[in-house]
Amino acid sequence: MPKLSATEPLLHPGVKVANSTFGAWCEVGEGSRVLNSDFGDYAYCDRLADIANTTVGKFSNIAAMTRIGPTDHPYRNAAQHHFLYRSSYYWDDAEDDAAFFAARAARRTVLGPDCWIGHGAIIKPDVTIGAGAIVASGAVVTRDVPPFVIVAGCPAVPIRGRFAPEVAEALMALAWWDWSHERLREALPDFRRLGAEAFVAKYA
Ligand SMILES: CC(C)(COP(=O)(O)OP(=O)(O)OC[C@H]1O[C@@H](n2cnc3c(N)ncnc32)[C@H](O)[C@@H]1OP(=O)(O)O)[C@@H](O)C(=O)NCCC(=O)NCCS
Repeated sequence: MPKLSATEPLLHPGVKVANSTFGAWCEVGEGSRVLNSDFGDYAYCDRLADIANTTVGKFSNIAAMTRIGPTDHPYRNAAQHHFLYRSSYYWDDAEDDAAFFAARAARRTVLGPDCWIGHGAIIKPDVTIGAGAIVASGAVVTRDVPPFVIVAGCPAVPIRGRFAPEVAEALMALAWWDWSHERLREALPDFRRLGAEAFVAKYA
């Protein structure tokens, strides 16, 4: 198994990265594409993830074949084909539409800390996924997801919360995702052994 690093992301073969940053202990799975995005510490995606214009929270868990922040074509115009904005591909005397690209890049998708994005899920631009939330496999997320809520389906709707509201609140207050690497290591046995209720009771 590859070892992760506090200084360099582990980029598996075939990964394409443009205009993006990575915190410590990050990993990008084989064949993934990461564009205009920022990975927080410990965030990772599995193979063939396609992530654009996204703030990926610390400890985000992104499954394979997900699409996060898929951009729109100019569908209000007479033509929506990308000759409108990738114009230099087609004509020597036409420039690409920089303003269109900038407007697309400004529509940020935000993944909260320790969220879990299931296999094949799609998350629209401008959507925020709360801390600890779960997006079920195959979901198409069109609206914000509150912290610690599980959503599923197309369009995705809440199926339930992960925890009782007071436990979710205690986890938000605890914000273990801001702990140091050393503190996480010390608490590792309790992360493994205890359910969330007992964990917050011990550490809150
Ligand atoms: C979301 C998830 C965690 C829920 O797991 P769970 O609590 O065991 O859920 P259940 O199987 O008890 O299903 C609860 C309800 O949600 C529905 N549901 C579960 N997963 C769903 C999905 N992916 N899409 C649509 N509905 C789903 C079930 O049909 C069920 O509905 P019902 O109550 O009307 O019968 C799980 O289904 C999932 O999608 N995990 C992601 C797995 C994955 O992508 N792994 C990749 C490697 S990281």
